[in-house]
Amino acid sequence: MEGNRILTSELLDEDKISNIRPESLDEYIGQTEAKENIRVFIKSALMRGESLDHVLLYGPPGLGKTTLAYIIANELGSNIKTASGPSIEKSGDLAAILSTLEPNDVLFIDEIHRIPRYIEEILYPAMEDFYLDIVIGGSEGTSRNIKIELPPFTLIGATTRAGDLSSPLRDRFGIISKLNYYNEDELYLIVKRTSRVLNTEITDEAARELAKRSRGTPRIANRLFKRVRDFALVNGEGIITNEILDDALNRLKVDKLGLDETDYNLLLSIIEKFNGGPVGIEALASSIGEEVSTIEDVYEPYLLQQGYLKRTSRGRMVTDKAYEHLGIINDKKNLQ
Ligand SMILES: Nc1ncnc2c1ncn2[C@@H]1O[C@H](COP(=O)(O)OP(=O)(O)OP(=O)(O)O)[C@@H](O)[C@H]1O
Ligand SMILES: [Mg+2]
Repeated sequence: MEGNRILTSELLDEDKISNIRPESLDEYIGQTEAKENIRVFIKSALMRGESLDHVLLYGPPGLGKTTLAYIIANELGSNIKTASGPSIEKSGDLAAILSTLEPNDVLFIDEIHRIPRYIEEILYPAMEDFYLDIVIGGSEGTSRNIKIELPPFTLIGATTRAGDLSSPLRDRFGIISKLNYYNEDELYLIVKRTSRVLNTEITDEAARELAKRSRGTPRIANRLFKRVRDFALVNGEGIITNEILDDALNRLKVDKLGLDETDYNLLLSIIEKFNGGPVGIEALASSIGEEVSTIEDVYEPYLLQQGYLKRTSRGRMVTDKAYEHLGIINDKKNLQ
């Protein structure tokens, strides 16, 4: 009993002090271009005493969009209110959120591409001229439009699919930043920071190796860090060495270059069932039992960026690099 109680309070304490999410631009590792531009825009807005222009952050999942949105609010010294595209089902939902805004607040809308188009239109005047245009009444010609003035605020939208945003919405963002996959050096620093925050030692060699195997993504680096820590605690002495890391990542089916089981299924399926491609995204999705959107948003971008996959007008094809990495001989190539 006693032991349990202590353990619980320790966990709570750890939760409180362990902020894996960086809270300032200085703590936010990588994304140098986006970060340095945003730093200037924030400083200028503060010098002018005006609200920051609206910001659109886009890029694959886990690269730090939500984190950056909170940091921007922090650096502006503003309050942040949050909503997400799928939770906005009626125009009233959005109007209600907008009407709670106070001067210079940040409104963060995650998955902004999922707001239905007819609701999205409410955002246009709100973003451009800070007013709400709503219809009241409705039946028998009694409806009328009323305009409600809003305080100046900053909308920060985040999306994994910038292409799904309508152009009127996209055009109303004064600052558009794309987040890219992190390189090994940046992920190494992120892993080292996580090690400090979680108070778990990791050798430099192991940190490098983890950086290499994190798919360019801080969220994956942090998730794997925690799982490897479990192996280090149970099977070792609590310190993450290269040996423990390698063993743990192999058990978790993360390969030397960070590809996971689904990446393998995807590449192998194209090779084995579709003769290397080209294959359409729907056929591919059903052959590996994943949603089209999961492949498009989560898996494909990294495989494309790393050159394992390419997109042609007729569909997806694996590359020689993929055959090589999987240790499979490309029959097609030999036939040519
Ligand atoms: N630049 C960074 N430096 C350090 N840690 C980071 C950085 N970016 C992200 N992280 C870490 O990665 C985790 C995932 O980041 P975040 O939740 O901001 O991603 P996201 O882009 O919003 O993902 P999604 O598209 O799934 O919402 C965070 O908890 C944070 O700890
Ligand atoms: Mg997010």
